[in-house]
Amino acid sequence: MSTHETVETFAPDPDFAAQANARAEDYERASADRLAFWDEQARRLDWSTEWSEVLDWSDAPVAKWYVGGTLNTAYNCVDRHVEAGNGDRVALHWVGEPTDDARDITYAQLKDEVSRTANYLSSLGLVAGDRVAIYMPLLPETYIAMLACARLGLTHSVVFAGFSAQALRSRVDDAEAKVVITADGQFRRGKPAPLKDGVDEALGDSLDSVSGPAESVQKVLVVRRTGIDVDWQSDRDVWWDEVIPEQSADHTPEAFDSEHPLFVLYTSGTTGKPKGIIHTTGGYLTQASYTHHVVFDHKPGEDVYWCTADVGWVTGHTYGVYGPLSNGATCMVYEGTPNSPDEHRHFQIIEKYGVSIYYAAPTLIRTFMKWGRQIPAGHDLSSIRLLGSVGEPINPEAWRWYRDHVGGSAVPVVDTWWQTETGAIMISPLPGVTAAKPGSAMRPLPGIDVSIVDGDAREVAAEDQGYLVITEPWPAMLRGIWGDMERYRDTYWSRFAEEGYYFAGDGAKWDADGDLWVLGRVDDVMNISGHRISTSEVESALVGHDAVAEAAVVGAADDTTGQAIVAYVILRESADDSEERHRALIDELRAAVSRDISPIAKPRDITVVPELPKTRSGKIMRRLLKDMAEGREGGDTSTLSDPTIIDQIKSKGVKG
Ligand code: WTA
Repeated sequence: MSTHETVETFAPDPDFAAQANARAEDYERASADRLAFWDEQARRLDWSTEWSEVLDWSDAPVAKWYVGGTLNTAYNCVDRHVEAGNGDRVALHWVGEPTDDARDITYAQLKDEVSRTANYLSSLGLVAGDRVAIYMPLLPETYIAMLACARLGLTHSVVFAGFSAQALRSRVDDAEAKVVITADGQFRRGKPAPLKDGVDEALGDSLDSVSGPAESVQKVLVVRRTGIDVDWQSDRDVWWDEVIPEQSADHTPEAFDSEHPLFVLYTSGTTGKPKGIIHTTGGYLTQASYTHHVVFDHKPGEDVYWCTADVGWVTGHTYGVYGPLSNGATCMVYEGTPNSPDEHRHFQIIEKYGVSIYYAAPTLIRTFMKWGRQIPAGHDLSSIRLLGSVGEPINPEAWRWYRDHVGGSAVPVVDTWWQTETGAIMISPLPGVTAAKPGSAMRPLPGIDVSIVDGDAREVAAEDQGYLVITEPWPAMLRGIWGDMERYRDTYWSRFAEEGYYFAGDGAKWDADGDLWVLGRVDDVMNISGHRISTSEVESALVGHDAVAEAAVVGAADDTTGQAIVAYVILRESADDSEERHRALIDELRAAVSRDISPIAKPRDITVVPELPKTRSGKIMRRLLKDMAEGREGGDTSTLSDPTIIDQIKSKGVKG
């Protein structure tokens, strides 16, 4: 982390402040009466039935927000904008990866498409509460599918299309999804890559991890994207373009209870399998909508807003779909990678469409830095008026580079801290109101209460590192873990049970000015390019290989990806102990992780070692492995059962 002396403060620009959506008094109003503040924010949405109570926390830690209120999410994100006379406004500027591929979709068109899709899904007999898995690249149909589910009260589970068949299967099984919506393939780096093949593999009986086909799934709805060949099961598979266009575009949305589950999204935790984080309707949409409005200072009809995250992650849900559409935003949606066909792609899109608000992860910003400032300098980026960062701590250098070279040295940068579990932004400067410092998320938003505490729940002094906790319930908070409420209580609420604090799993500190710095995870969750992956998930993929006896995985600092996955493995005994065999195995192990989880979970380094550093009681000392992976010398080895082990690993380990 940077030292305090070098930190400059950017005061809000008076011209920006004069027209900002956020007001300084929002902080005071919210702290004077938090629930009245959230009551007011919920009124930004259209409800069918008003709530009787803002918050019922009597069954803590399971919250009920806007008790008894009813609303329809898709109506709020689509229909109401058409009814307000904005049907001709572009909702989605979609750009495919191939450069000649683009489609604009207005709010009126979106309403028709969502209605048709909803009519089709209900013709299958699906009813509110049923689950639908969505395994799609970033296409207009992905938005339409999510909104059609929301319109019917179907709980969607979006699975990132970069996840493996195995990962898809475990999510489909856990949520007992009845329908999977996918595409034949997706464009990646200029080429079509298969996607439905992965669905066929996931739902069939060829995976090692399962026996028999996925039982819950009745239909697979397939968008024709690339035209590549696919296998077809005619009793199960349906082409989107053969069933959706013929549906009626009339569909009356039903209002659902504020606590109706809107979606489940799987994310990695410290232990075990990824957990299905449950989000419900009224509180989630209230906070998604309010935070999008104030943190991005979004002006409907004027801004072109681009959240670069894939919908497979929570950022894509809240700030790609629900937050912006609830506010009638015109959203940029880009299917591909930032360097297809070359490194200019994002900047070309910004220039062509006049993108004014741009939201990205620090990893992407650091990648832009590596490509060089001449790339953004070659484009007119003057439409940009606000930049956001999310997903990992942003180093001050990257923050400054982003503001200078993408933001013309003039625009507010919001560093937004939140999690899949929090559902929406919790800590961020308010542009026009709060000053900003490169690397600091600054302040909890109005209506959000956090603290930084030591292991005994005592508040830490300024500049001291502690645990970030959330001290009061918030509208978009998760309502549980799908199928495992015990794990919900254990994971988030047992650490500070007496105080009733939510334990975020991040370390943080206040600086001397009272501004907040998030310092990274304090548990075994790694953050690779803004993606959460747990050490135990990767370890179990490694030990799943026949040749591996034991594995230990750590996240090591990496200049581009924030953290990188570094694995140490002990092999089972074998007659062939050659370096050649070890190298071949290392390749196999990378492939195994990729197959079990996703290519994003592939270790950067795998070292075959004779032994792992363990305490006398047999516990692996990850701290020493992390020191080694980050090139630090001389950690305390006195508690090791064999103090020479680190030297042995360094001299005998085979790294690949
Ligand atoms: C990290 C992503 C520092 C943090 C929205 C958190 C951040 C985890 C920031 C959640 C930030 C997210 N500064 N760290 N601005 N934003 N994180 O669930 O460790 O994919 O706990 O949600 O990302 O990751 P998730």
